[in-house]
Amino acid sequence: MIGVLVSGAGTNLQALLDAGLPVVAVASNRRDAKALERASHLAIATESFELGDYADRAERDTAMADWLERHGVRVVVLAGYMHLLTSAFLDRFPDAVVNVHPSLLPEFPGAHAVEEQLAAGVAETGATVHLVDEGVDSGPILAQERVAVLDDDTPETLHARIKEIEHRLLPRVVGELCAR
Ligand code: GRF
Repeated sequence: MIGVLVSGAGTNLQALLDAGLPVVAVASNRRDAKALERASHLAIATESFELGDYADRAERDTAMADWLERHGVRVVVLAGYMHLLTSAFLDRFPDAVVNVHPSLLPEFPGAHAVEEQLAAGVAETGATVHLVDEGVDSGPILAQERVAVLDDDTPETLHARIKEIEHRLLPRVVGELCAR
């Protein structure tokens, strides 16, 4: 069973749902994340874990891991989740937390990867799905796919093309992880 962590729009969450994967719980660090609505419309359990409601990050991560475990989650997917996870969370789901990122990691980790790749003038970029560790987009890579950067790309057009890849790649890799 899959738990998904989100902070934003949730188009990758939607791709997992459209693929028919067994998503049973969706959690966010932001109460107002649009992605939570996509899940609650489908009667999937949702909860927000805002940092300000806890003494520190480890306490928040423990509460979030407890909640996911209560829902039977074995594989956790970060689908646009914008906080780092501490060992208080990661140790609870060993080798079973994956992230999707809009660059060819290890190039361009971090929250502004699309803008930074355009500014650097790279000829190609892509999407990466990787196992999560405590670093910034730094765990072992599971899958990658490339896409060309066009002369007239803006951050929006480029990110949209990368997301098309993400929406294929992420469900495939998550499906494989669930089947192991
Ligand atoms: C995706 O580009 C993902 O790679 C990055 O955040 C974005 C999330 O988009 N980590 P969405 O919320 O799934 O639409």
